[in-house]
Amino acid sequence: MRRPLIAGNWKMHTNILEAYLLVSEIGKCAAGLDDRDVLLAPPNVALSSVSRVLQDSDVLLASQNVCWAEKGAFTGEISPTMVKAVGGVASIIGHSERRQIFHEDDEMINKRVLGALKFGLMAIFCIGETLEERESENTFEVLESQIRQGLAGVSSEDMQKTVVAYEPVWAIGTGKTATKEQAQEVHAFIRKLLAEMYEKDVAESVRILYGGSVNAENVDELMAQPDIDGALVGGAALKADSFCRIINFN
Ligand code: PGA
Repeated sequence: MRRPLIAGNWKMHTNILEAYLLVSEIGKCAAGLDDRDVLLAPPNVALSSVSRVLQDSDVLLASQNVCWAEKGAFTGEISPTMVKAVGGVASIIGHSERRQIFHEDDEMINKRVLGALKFGLMAIFCIGETLEERESENTFEVLESQIRQGLAGVSSEDMQKTVVAYEPVWAIGTGKTATKEQAQEVHAFIRKLLAEMYEKDVAESVRILYGGSVNAENVDELMAQPDIDGALVGGAALKADSFCRIINFN
């Protein structure tokens, strides 16, 4: 059985005080949830203060992106060992905002995935099609290409430390969620593709998250789908009450 994972991506929100207040609330409502993982990805400047609040909790900490190198001349980047040094165990990689706004391509995303895994971080590898790609019926082709390129060189062993997040670009921050049928269809496709690329039991063990306007109202029906193993939550992760409801999905 795959252990569900609910991840909150705070994006470029919360200063250190706001982050402290938010994680304090979330920490309380996540206590005792032992059949699922909860993960938070605050902005880099808040990683260490959030980490301190989470010290005695099971809530996991992640960065929102990560460099492939351990150190060096990479202005503006954070290294996998820096993330680990503040208590981080994972990094989101290849988010559509990184792809679209900052023009990160599949090759760069692949380097980040390999770098994260090399230094022992869990890679939360994001993929997703645009509205145009969906309407022109290219969804599966686009996703297959993102997966094959983004995961190039990832071993079977490392694949088991990788989480795939399917986030249709048209559903992110728009209030427009993929229907549970649309999401399940894509998740099943991703798992089938992973079974072609890796062993079947590896594909069966990889967690595939859905992201894109997940909220307190739609989380239960999404989580009830057989191939949806969790959620990557943006907007609704910024309010303790909605995120607490989401992590307590039925
Ligand atoms: P959203 O963002 O929940 O606000 O749509 C999801 C994400 O970008 O990870």
